[in-house]
Amino acid sequence: MTTQEMKMAFEQAYGKQVEKMYFSPGRVNLIGEHTDYNGGCVFPCALSFGAWLLIAKNADRVLRFQSMNMPQKYEIPISEIQPQPDKAWCNYALGCIEIIARRHPEAKLESGYDLLYYGNVPAGAGLSSSAAMEVVTARAFTEEMGWKDADDKKYRTELALIGQACEHEYAGVMCGIMDQFASAQGKKDHAIYLNCDTMEFEHVPVKLEGIKVVITNTHSPHHLDSGAYNDRVRQCKTAVEQICKVKPIKCLAELTPEDWKEVEGAISDPIAKKRARHVVGEVARTAAAVEALKKGEIAYFGELMTASHVSLRDDYEVTGKELDTLAEAAWQVEGVLGSRMTGGGFGGCTVSLVKDEAIEDFKAFVGKEYEEKTGLKADFYVAEIGNGVMRLE
Ligand code: GLA
Repeated sequence: MTTQEMKMAFEQAYGKQVEKMYFSPGRVNLIGEHTDYNGGCVFPCALSFGAWLLIAKNADRVLRFQSMNMPQKYEIPISEIQPQPDKAWCNYALGCIEIIARRHPEAKLESGYDLLYYGNVPAGAGLSSSAAMEVVTARAFTEEMGWKDADDKKYRTELALIGQACEHEYAGVMCGIMDQFASAQGKKDHAIYLNCDTMEFEHVPVKLEGIKVVITNTHSPHHLDSGAYNDRVRQCKTAVEQICKVKPIKCLAELTPEDWKEVEGAISDPIAKKRARHVVGEVARTAAAVEALKKGEIAYFGELMTASHVSLRDDYEVTGKELDTLAEAAWQVEGVLGSRMTGGGFGGCTVSLVKDEAIEDFKAFVGKEYEEKTGLKADFYVAEIGNGVMRLE
């Protein structure tokens, strides 16, 4: 789909010309999973695919939503913005518009708008199609509503926070900040090492000589809203409460693996204990992985990715048969440095580091194993790491 084709689709949908056009990417997380809402660090990259938004003002004081991916259309008066029933897809946009006004009282929605979305992030793949939609909407409407922080870095962080609030309040997923942050702050050929407690971050070059980041789609949709994600958030909270009996902490990410030995006995709930063990280990692994990448120790980086999957499988229990089949098959291929699930889990995608010369064997072997064991066909994409949200025209 070219931007020209999107513009033509807009003209067909609304019978007028586009005024402005924006893009925001999806993301793949290299390591640091289920750490963001525990005050830990994450290491995602923005992808070259994402969500496009085309807009033009209307004189009718309504927001009209159409998508090239979804058949439902919505028309909502600007005086009646509230969550729409039946998991309406427009909630991911509507929420951002309302939240901009709430967080920035000087921001005013003074006109109606016609909106058209197009996304090429595979839906349900755990590559943040919803964050891309939120952040692209936040970018467009902060500008339209007359609020924009002069400091670009702060502005992008605020776009991520608006998107996250929308996900909480309009989609009911109590997610961390990683996905929206990656979509807002991505940088071509860099990963983002983000401390989700302080929101401090650095862009780390992803220079992999002769190695590619390969994303494999289970085509088994993840169900972030199914409650399992929010359960994990609650279980981690329980762990924090129980640990506080012996050591006051604000979040699990404050604990080092050494601290863990001292506090684990305080967690009486066995499930909460497993969840917390994953978080403490994952935070340490993420820091070690970033160091390894900076030093060019890619083999070690790969080992840490694999260890991350094992922990997500055994302690956090967010993998499932499809993701485990993909990762475990990948580990058997010569030339694979590491492979793990990425994103929330329960379906979605894995991310693997694969030597160039092994890519064909990887696809053939992993694809065959996966189909034999699950009856599903996997899809493979070589990730292109792209920039964060931008205005195109
Ligand atoms: C989802 C959430 C993120 C993060 C990941 C797991 O993608 O939206 O905030 O918690 O799961 O790391």
